[in-house]
Amino acid sequence: MPVPPTLLEPDLLAADPAGLADVGRLVTEITREAAGALRRRTGPLPAQTPRQLAALVDRQLPDGPIPRHGGGREAVLALARAYAAGTVDLADPRAAAHLQPPSLSVAAAADVLASVFNASVDTWDSGPYAVELERRLITALTDLAGYGPAAGGVLTPGGSASNLQALLIARDTALRPGRDVRAVGLSGLTVRPVLYCSELAHFSMARAAALLGLGEDAVRPVAADEHHRMRPEELDRALRTRAADELPIAVVATAGTTDYGSIDPMPQLAAIARDHGIRLHVDAAYGGGALFSARLRPLLDGIELADSITIDLHKTAWQPAAASALLLRDRAGFTTTTGLRVAYLNPEDDGEAGYDGLLGHSLQTTRRADALKVAATFLALGREGVGAMLDACHDLALHAARSVAAHPRLELTTEPVLTTVVFRYRPRTTTDPATVDAINGALRRRLLREGSALIGRTETEGAVQLKLTLLNPQARTSDIEEMLAAVDAAGAAEEEAHHV
Ligand SMILES: Cc1ncc(COP(=O)(O)O)c(C=O)c1O
Repeated sequence: MPVPPTLLEPDLLAADPAGLADVGRLVTEITREAAGALRRRTGPLPAQTPRQLAALVDRQLPDGPIPRHGGGREAVLALARAYAAGTVDLADPRAAAHLQPPSLSVAAAADVLASVFNASVDTWDSGPYAVELERRLITALTDLAGYGPAAGGVLTPGGSASNLQALLIARDTALRPGRDVRAVGLSGLTVRPVLYCSELAHFSMARAAALLGLGEDAVRPVAADEHHRMRPEELDRALRTRAADELPIAVVATAGTTDYGSIDPMPQLAAIARDHGIRLHVDAAYGGGALFSARLRPLLDGIELADSITIDLHKTAWQPAAASALLLRDRAGFTTTTGLRVAYLNPEDDGEAGYDGLLGHSLQTTRRADALKVAATFLALGREGVGAMLDACHDLALHAARSVAAHPRLELTTEPVLTTVVFRYRPRTTTDPATVDAINGALRRRLLREGSALIGRTETEGAVQLKLTLLNPQARTSDIEEMLAAVDAAGAAEEEAHHV
């Protein structure tokens, strides 16, 4: 039998004692190289255009990432240096563009262990401890959400995936018992399944509707109020005036809209959904972190009334992606869609004997032990530790909003709710809407190019807006001031470049 090349001495396989020691050595060396490269950085992004970066990667990897012959340890260390120099540095306090937090060191380290053992939670025998950890993590989250003992849930690769599975369950629950959608598909339906969410809901709703065969136009957007929260009376009206052949499968409330962090009025929406006999799903991908904060938890009042909840621990619990959770008030919901038995994985008699994994809960088969990093984080820091990080980011957002409001060239679009601040640069020399938009867009790209500050961009009522998504609990108010000064300077430079 040919022996595989052991270029990474002394051992090739991670999870035997010698291999584990080698993982330790290699991780030490990789992180040392990465730290060296990080120290030479000047901002959250490399100061390069996309084209310059692509040319650099071509030079660094002349034979691409799958060369015929390997370069051993040195090739790995070179990659670590290049990666740390060229990727985004989310721990830089001037990284504030997306709902993408810097990951916690404890979580990143525990994640190495998940990679080492490579357990999977689909079957009991492919990852027994990981299966037990995920079960307990889900129970802890459903308890925090205020669900009872019938609750269940599953970890997924992201908020989009959690929302997709929630709507899959909603679709199949609404269409039963008339037909088994799983077996026969949607053709021949005499009803048109539809769902209702705020006009500010995440685009993953529309994508899920398309993937579920309902079409994107099955999503009925409901108007939001001046605080960016779905108007309950508009939802009620939409439900009452719907066409006779439309079958509502779900109302979706957003607890933390992507741009504004606004939280739909869950108690009112739950009451309307209940009156109409429709499931309520809460997309708390962003706001779900408030479960860990005594101060912000009241924002989630009413979340326990939902039939299902999406929470992204890779957003407001500082986990390395991926770590999203879909929680169900009644775990029996799984059987409508994915409660699946496969002869080679989880046969009935194994299940009866207690050898069940989590295959029947998930849309995936092989599935990483993501509960490990999450459990390690909370065991190390406690809920209060994680909640305090959200509080710190909330404080930063309040500070940033005050600074923006007081700034002569910046205009606050709306008061922050969680950790985002939406605003606009107001040029000195023009009020023409198209030019103001162009300058705001260009100033953000200028900052990207310089690599000095990473801020977000969005649009409100057709106007380009800038956004700080503050998820660095170690950032200081002086970092906020520095970012706003950078926006001001880049705005002035763009005004000049636009000849206005
Ligand atoms: C409200 C909301 N829902 C869902 C998602 C999708 O999450 P993911 O990127 O993990 O798929 C996001 C992402 O920002 C979000 O803000």
